[in-house]
Amino acid sequence: MKNYTSVHDVPDVAALVQEALELKKNPYAHKSLGENKTLGLIFLNPSLRTRLSTQKAALNLGMNVMVMNMDKEGWALETQDGVVMNGTTVEHIREAAAVMGQYCDILGLRSFPKLQSREEDYSEDILNKFMKYAGVPILSLESATRHPLQSLADLITITEHKPTGLRPKVVLTWAPHVKALPQAVPNSFAEWMCAADVDFVIAHPEGYELESSFTDGATITYDQDEALQNADFVYIKNWSSFHDYGKVLTEGEGWMMTNEKLAKTNNAKVMHCLPVRRGLELSHEILDGPNSIVIQEAGNRVYAAQAVIKRLLENKA
Ligand code: CP
Repeated sequence: MKNYTSVHDVPDVAALVQEALELKKNPYAHKSLGENKTLGLIFLNPSLRTRLSTQKAALNLGMNVMVMNMDKEGWALETQDGVVMNGTTVEHIREAAAVMGQYCDILGLRSFPKLQSREEDYSEDILNKFMKYAGVPILSLESATRHPLQSLADLITITEHKPTGLRPKVVLTWAPHVKALPQAVPNSFAEWMCAADVDFVIAHPEGYELESSFTDGATITYDQDEALQNADFVYIKNWSSFHDYGKVLTEGEGWMMTNEKLAKTNNAKVMHCLPVRRGLELSHEILDGPNSIVIQEAGNRVYAAQAVIKRLLENKA
């Protein structure tokens, strides 16, 4: 694997999931693989899970880890080409990425969308420029349009919790939120579920359709109750509109996941990438109840990252 930015970098999704599950059983089996290698984690936005789980994964492989909070500690970054830098930006991404590539064997990058211009966000300009100028493999820690480490952890979690031999029904359902959030997690989750051996349904209010290239193969409905029928896994997530870009179109009354709604499912396991707004996206009773697997899901972020970093170190598909 040369870079890890989407499911398209993974030739065999099921094999990567199995490798992650093997690593979970024996996390230190490849302790010498990362010896004298350095992982740099570059954050342009906040993080709890991605930061800590990716560090832990690298440490399990014997790597050194350096973390740079560019948004708080770095020079203000210029990303546009050809500009005269006579404003507030101090360092161009061409030099910044190239210099960080001198210090690290792999660079992880978190770069959220601004949600102002769909064209700009979906061009993945910052991620692409890091891939162009860093000179080392790039590991996406969540980009403008995707969160592939989260999605791999989600699929690992579904694989662990599904009854043997069952092709599970997985429902991604939109949930209310007070802020306009990116489409990265639902885009990525949809893309991974469409590549996995699951029956995949997406439910959202009208106007929240995701970009179709991410959802090809999914059943899409505006009827949450219908979607939840016989579901084995329910993945709850808010996102802002793709078509009316970055807008919040509704307060989403009636879309919060509750125990009453869970009763329509096949005793479904409940998932969320976290952080979650209690009492808004998901009821307290579900989060604190027996169907929630959000903590196990977050725990699997370590083994998702470890499987991917291992392949980047091995330069193996
Ligand atoms: N799910 C997730 O990526 O969490 P963080 O934003 O805390 O890393």
